[in-house]
Amino acid sequence: MIKVQKLSKHFGKVKAVDEISFEVKEHENLILLGTSGCGKTTTLKMINRLIEPSAGNIFIDSKNIFEQSPETLRRGIGYVLQNNGLFPHYTVAENIAIVPQLLKWDKKRTEKRVAELLEKLHLTKDYLNVYPNELSGGQQQRIGLARALVADPAVLLMDEPFGALDNVTRSKIHAEFKALDELKRKTIIMVTHDVQEAFELGDHICLMDQGKIIQDGTPADLLFNPKNSFVKEFLQEQKLQLEFKAIKLNQLSRPLKGEAEKGVGQKVNNISADVSFWSVLEHFKFDGVDELNVIDKENNETWSANFEELMSAFYQYKKQQFHE
Ligand SMILES: Nc1ncnc2c1ncn2[C@@H]1O[C@H](COP(=O)(O)OP(=O)(O)OP(=O)(O)O)[C@@H](O)[C@H]1O
Ligand SMILES: [Mg+2]
Repeated sequence: MIKVQKLSKHFGKVKAVDEISFEVKEHENLILLGTSGCGKTTTLKMINRLIEPSAGNIFIDSKNIFEQSPETLRRGIGYVLQNNGLFPHYTVAENIAIVPQLLKWDKKRTEKRVAELLEKLHLTKDYLNVYPNELSGGQQQRIGLARALVADPAVLLMDEPFGALDNVTRSKIHAEFKALDELKRKTIIMVTHDVQEAFELGDHICLMDQGKIIQDGTPADLLFNPKNSFVKEFLQEQKLQLEFKAIKLNQLSRPLKGEAEKGVGQKVNNISADVSFWSVLEHFKFDGVDELNVIDKENNETWSANFEELMSAFYQYKKQQFHE
């Protein structure tokens, strides 16, 4: 869906972005991860042509983006700015309606779509006529997201969308983010400097340093096959937590075959096999379940297991990874 080839941006002598290449498949969530100044925002802004590159090529849906006008290009791309970038003198409704206005939607259609988005993002109508400075940081970020989603673009670029939030609010918004149907239909490039966030939300991560991509792979690739000591050291902190986030249920060998018998009075939740082990822990921790019913759509099977069985499968998987 998105193909970036040997993309560079030089500001005088500073090589902000230095010959990077990567691809994003349709409906995938790619994370650009790296410390401050490594070139993440510059990369993102070249994709919607807010910055013109010094060299390189970008294709979206097989079309060369430099052969389109920037305005046409941006109509198909939602953009969430670093520090949310809401206009302070526009109300919430006006901020969200910026793109519909450019597209000359009629008033009814805009109002309907804005109301629909507010509901999906768990904000009430009372916020429509409020100004951004009357909102909390988390609410502002939700409005920034609504503004990017309003015209239902196929591609979404997000620059540290959950940057300035406390940990509790952030994990709440992460959960909403993962559950939002609209986002599952989008191809997303998200920038963050937070390793945990990258592992939780990314299908695929480009770890950057000084304008270059050091490693490009799945969270598990980076964790279990780090390309060099830079990658290893970058992921060193809270490694166990990253492992929980990198390993998906469908990678584990099943502790039990078939559907296990449920004990009387036990709490059993259904869970998709496509989620990380981290989500499993959340079910046990926050939902107090005794057992999980794992639905594996890809292989058309269902299996269940309790906490001990799942933990043991997790450690078995880890052992295999490190033996290879
Ligand atoms: N307009 C500009 N003129 C000159 N140098 C710039 C300009 N924009 C960015 N740079 C430089 O390019 C490098 C990359 O900047 P960029 O904003 O892409 O970093 P970033 O990874 O997004 O960092 P952060 O996490 O702090 O947002 C930095 O060294 C920065 O100083
Ligand atoms: Mg930045």
